[in-house]
Amino acid sequence: MVAGVTTAPAAALPALDLRPWMDERLARVERALQAWVGRDAPAGLGEAMRYAVLDGGKRLRPLLVLAAAEAVRGQAQAALRAACAVELIHAYSLVHDDMPCMDNDVLRRGKPTVHVKYGEAGALLAGDALQALAFELLTPANDDVPEAVQARLCRLLAHAAGSAGMAGGQAIDLASVGLKLDEEHLRQMHRLKTGALLQGSVLMGAACGEASAQAHEALGVYGAAIGLAFQVVDDVLDVTADSATLGKTAGKDADNDKPTYVSLLGLERSRAYTQDLHGQALHALDASGLPDTRALRGLANMVVHRKS
Ligand code: IPE
Ligand code: IPE
Ligand code: MG
Ligand code: MG
Ligand code: MG
Repeated sequence: MVAGVTTAPAAALPALDLRPWMDERLARVERALQAWVGRDAPAGLGEAMRYAVLDGGKRLRPLLVLAAAEAVRGQAQAALRAACAVELIHAYSLVHDDMPCMDNDVLRRGKPTVHVKYGEAGALLAGDALQALAFELLTPANDDVPEAVQARLCRLLAHAAGSAGMAGGQAIDLASVGLKLDEEHLRQMHRLKTGALLQGSVLMGAACGEASAQAHEALGVYGAAIGLAFQVVDDVLDVTADSATLGKTAGKDADNDKPTYVSLLGLERSRAYTQDLHGQALHALDASGLPDTRALRGLANMVVHRKS
């Protein structure tokens, strides 16, 4: 039987307790990142890479990779490598996002930002090296991951991280300072700068197994919906939460004159929009035909209801 073709309804399964599900996977990802990041780098660079990646972060993207991979009964070693690779791209994007030439932030994951601690050149290089390491992890020299899967994962990650994804969205973000974007352009910016990597995480998980066309399509819709919802919630939290809770400087978007969902729609309509996107994500899972999407459902709830 091809994984992902059965149509047993998820409702027939007992409820999943997400906390222990997450804890087990977070521990696995943490152990792998500890082992893989910054080990063979010159002292200063390796330290900056480890500082940027270890000891902090919700690890939502790795969890999405693992949940999607489990939903299609994907290969575990490929999924673990994909989970770490996407987190490295995310961590690099944060290092660069915080630099003075971008958002100019001094606090990240409850610690001084990488450029504050290691200087701007150190932060630039740590980001560069993390990006390269992500692709190295996806292409192990041993036979841990079949070559066809390696190629699929590299393609998905490159697309999500590059000019049609995160980097492209960041370029729009910087070009939009002080402007009032309409909803269509704001949505496009958010889809690229944040949504692409979250959707990419889901698709990379799916690429570790054999999803049916129906499941693949549904996971893409799910990933797009939670990816956009994640950044709308980020915009809301920037206004409603404090720096200690966020682990990053609150109120930064207004200070930097960034167009956000809150500046465009206000808080209430932004929150309503996240509920809308949440519904879209759950509906896509229902339509996926996958036998067990409980972890993906739990992660969608987390995206929308998170406080930090
Ligand atoms: C922050 O992402 C940057 C955005 C894309 C909004 P996260 O909120 O996932 O940051 P960490 O990984 O938990 O620190
Ligand atoms: C970040 O958007 C998107 C990235 C690609 C890093 P933000 O600039 O809103 O992220 P935070 O609020 O600094 O985490
Ligand atoms: Mg930014
Ligand atoms: Mg920022
Ligand atoms: Mg933000």
